[in-house]
Amino acid sequence: MEKLVIEGGKPLSGAIKIHGAKNAALPILAASIMAEGTVVMNNVPELSDIGVMLGILRSLGCKAEQTGDTVTINTAAVHQFHIPEHLMSQMRSSIFLMGPLLARLGRVELYQPGGCAIGERKIDLHLKGLAALGVKIEDDGSRIVCMASELTGADIMLDYPSVGATENIMMAAAMARGQTTITNAAREPEIQDLQNFLNTMGAKIIGAGTDTITIEGVQELVPCTYRIIPDRIVAGTLMIAAAVTRGHVTLQGVCPAHLTSAIHVLKRSGVQITIDGDIMGISAPSRLKAVERIVTSPYPSFPTDLQSQIMVLLSLSDGVSIVKETVFEGRFKHVDELSRMGADIRVDMNAAILRGVPRLYGATVEATDLRAGAALVIAGLAAQGTTVIEQIHHIDRGYDRIESMLRSLGATINRTTPVAME
Ligand code: UD1
Repeated sequence: MEKLVIEGGKPLSGAIKIHGAKNAALPILAASIMAEGTVVMNNVPELSDIGVMLGILRSLGCKAEQTGDTVTINTAAVHQFHIPEHLMSQMRSSIFLMGPLLARLGRVELYQPGGCAIGERKIDLHLKGLAALGVKIEDDGSRIVCMASELTGADIMLDYPSVGATENIMMAAAMARGQTTITNAAREPEIQDLQNFLNTMGAKIIGAGTDTITIEGVQELVPCTYRIIPDRIVAGTLMIAAAVTRGHVTLQGVCPAHLTSAIHVLKRSGVQITIDGDIMGISAPSRLKAVERIVTSPYPSFPTDLQSQIMVLLSLSDGVSIVKETVFEGRFKHVDELSRMGADIRVDMNAAILRGVPRLYGATVEATDLRAGAALVIAGLAAQGTTVIEQIHHIDRGYDRIESMLRSLGATINRTTPVAME
């Protein structure tokens, strides 16, 4: 198993370009099969999750290749509608194939993605939405078979603004007969990116970014070339890393409007942020202040995907902070690991109470999920001494060579690979 080894205590400094957004790229890659021909995507991050999605697309009959940040997919020969169980368990985002396969082949067979380290993660809203579009669903609790000889537009009200459900319904509805309206839709920037991609292929969708999305179904989509938006969670992670190391970092190619709530929280804590177009400067010259209360909720509120990372900053800030997690139950697995590094955090149901300490200390810790792993990297950068992070395959799902990124900003961080035994 590979590990990351970090010598902490060095302020980050320098400039770095932010890579494309995993959470935008995954549904967009899935949506590519709705057009027949060659789709080209730029600014696609080189991540293990992207590799898994390309593998699934190949198993459906596509030719799919990634060269640097460009992905080329030829979708002409898509014929398979079965997504094997082992791929579903490898990556929950396989569920993004539901809408596109129904639109392209009228059928999809897959498996319940099951729970994961951050919570239960049901897909009932995806299924309810698809059923409203006329999809017949057989679900035996494990295998799910969805069939639709024709998709028909409908008015769909989501009980919760689920990102994935909004995206799946948008994709299926893009090729349904008639109009679909999604009310209480999720408003994340990745949903706007999906709308832009589908519209570039000829779909007629308006409203993404608001809570009402209207989709006028079309009969055919055509291949296109598309550029994925920058990853706001990677940007937020680096902003926090710059702040906790009391560094001075310039992020290039960011979309500051996607980071409004994170910028607000960081400024409240005393972080200095400058914005000039898609360039953001972050510095934190003195000890940061506690933030009384942060609540994670759907966009545009503070993102659950930055909750673990901001807890490192609050652990080192002066005073008591409270973080309430409302999106995923059980997303506090990083607390035990941060405590082993000297953080003072108490968890009470879905709230964490953090009492700031002057410093963290290096330790051997385990990444329990993607963002928890990112938080441990940040903690290691700020800590006194050496931190060893295990189970880093979680981190590779969402950060393109995190050690190279951070080394380019002056951090001492290395990936160790075990020597094979005879
Ligand atoms: C997406 C992001 C993930 C992020 C999350 C919330 C991708 C690939 N992943 O995940 O990084 O943390 O949004 O911002 O884009 N729920 C149901 N029933 C459903 C669907 C969801 O109860 O059918 C619940 C979930 O269990 C969870 C909450 O709704 O508690 C939010 O989930 P959702 O918005 O769907 O997140 P994902 O799309 O899975």
